[in-house]
Amino acid sequence: MGSTQPEFKNPATTSLLELVKSRRTYYGLKAESPIADDAIEQIVRDSVLHVPSSFNTQTSRVVLLLKEEHQKVWDIAINAMEGLVAAGVVPKDQFESSTKPKLNAFRAAYGTVLFFVDFESLAPIKEKFAIYADKFDPFATESNAMSQYLVWVALQSEGFGANLQHYSPLIDEQIAKTWNIPASWKLDAQLVFGTPTSEPGEKAFAPIEDRFKVFGK
Ligand SMILES: Cc1cc2nc3c(=O)[nH]c(=O)nc-3n(C[C@H](O)[C@H](O)[C@H](O)COP(=O)(O)O)c2cc1C
Repeated sequence: MGSTQPEFKNPATTSLLELVKSRRTYYGLKAESPIADDAIEQIVRDSVLHVPSSFNTQTSRVVLLLKEEHQKVWDIAINAMEGLVAAGVVPKDQFESSTKPKLNAFRAAYGTVLFFVDFESLAPIKEKFAIYADKFDPFATESNAMSQYLVWVALQSEGFGANLQHYSPLIDEQIAKTWNIPASWKLDAQLVFGTPTSEPGEKAFAPIEDRFKVFGK
């Protein structure tokens, strides 16, 4: 039996799922933007403001960095990695042949969104709902990830490519210093974006039947 595509009542649902399907990791990026900086800012603002959080705790904190400000993030990462090479923690040839070109590729993009979580702001609610106390930190990270995903999808919808990076804690101190980030903001992820210069790699999917079940249809 061939399966037919179900119809949605709202065409926006089809568009939304198309965007979800087309979002990929793009590593080849250049410092050009298909849209105005204000439009990028709107995407990020809305993704912070409207993404849900547990008990509406609103724990995500986000910094949008464009052009030269974006490049500083990756200069910080390169400097930090060079420190590890100098300390003998990372082999020099590995840094030169692999890590440095990768970091320079991020630097060549148009912008970086820094995603932080303010875990400290959860202290009062942890006290109020002691029974859930150990759940609030993971909930906050999950909410943060929702914002990351939404920005990723929306930027790609506007013609950007993006990739998600995790250079914390290596870069935390210099990031905080450079942009005067409050001490309670804990860096989680860096979303690098720019105009794509190459296609994403092949992606394999495990059978959906092994990952999803439906009952009562
Ligand atoms: C929670 C999470 C963490 C990730 N961390 C990294 C990362 O640190 N560096 C990186 O290059 N890609 C990272 N990725 C990207 C994944 O490797 C990528 O999304 C996955 O291989 C599927 O490919 P696609 O994004 O093209 O669909 C991360 C993705 C997720 C969802």
